[in-house]
Amino acid sequence: MSARPIIIDTDPGIDDAMAIFYALASPELDVIGLTTVFGNAHVDVCTTNAQRILDIAGGPEIPVAQGAARPLAMNYRGPSHFVHGVNGLADVALAAPSRAPHALDAAHFIIQQATARPGEVTLVPIGPLTNVALAMLLCPELPSLLAGMVLMGGNAFVGGNASPAAEANILNDPEAADIVFGADCPIVMCGLDVTEATIMSSEQIAGIASFDNPRALLATQILPYYRDFHLSHGGPDGIHVHDSTCISYLLAPHHYSSVQHPIRVDCGDGVGRGKTWPATRHALSAALWADRTPVTILTEVNSAAVVALELDRLARA
Ligand code: RIB
Ligand code: CA
Repeated sequence: MSARPIIIDTDPGIDDAMAIFYALASPELDVIGLTTVFGNAHVDVCTTNAQRILDIAGGPEIPVAQGAARPLAMNYRGPSHFVHGVNGLADVALAAPSRAPHALDAAHFIIQQATARPGEVTLVPIGPLTNVALAMLLCPELPSLLAGMVLMGGNAFVGGNASPAAEANILNDPEAADIVFGADCPIVMCGLDVTEATIMSSEQIAGIASFDNPRALLATQILPYYRDFHLSHGGPDGIHVHDSTCISYLLAPHHYSSVQHPIRVDCGDGVGRGKTWPATRHALSAALWADRTPVTILTEVNSAAVVALELDRLARA
């Protein structure tokens, strides 16, 4: 079977780096490009990091197209230094990237690739959904040109991580997220329902030091910073596996359970801003969700199996 072409839309980011490494080590997937977005850091920092990650992973020919610097309808909430470091990668000193970003911006790159290969490309957004929304606004037929989207973001039946209501990628641009969840194409939502139930333990992180390749070396340098954030904020003795969940789902969907509901995003200014709301059983309010394609919402995960899969791929030379 030929490898599935994917574009990863990303804000690297420690867990973004892990997801990119995981995808590049997986022959089932063909990473045809990275597009960058503000989020864990300013977009120019995220672009530099994406290029560095590809250099380290042996993918310098893969294009990196820079995208949005700010959300559609609000100010950027600012970088998450306390989660990812000032440089977005745990403040590890890294070499300058080997090449310049792609001539196209992220939204136009996504449209170009989807148009060139109709029905083939899967988008894998693991940051705020601004680039994807911009691409849909520029090209309303984009969803029909995609194989689908597998995105990290949102929280259906659990609380948020960036506010009591909302998950970080969605809270960084709720208006964009509401546009994207309205796309008429298959969408898989890898939200906090499963990503916070997927734990890579401190012991497993320490074990990465025995892997002998450049991806694993960077992982050993950046993951302790991310683990320390979890420990100091009431998390597990390890890390929640957010962005890599999209890759695990693409490789091994049988390790997940799901439900199907259309999604709306709270775009108000109140305490619920950024909450992803599935239309479940409340028929009276269903008009607000009308005409939306049901989203596959992941609800349960075999954490041990998917973490073992990711570590196995990271160990590959
Ligand atoms: O909530 C988790 C998401 O927010 C991940 O994409 C991570 O990179 C952070 O920015
Ligand atoms: Ca991310």
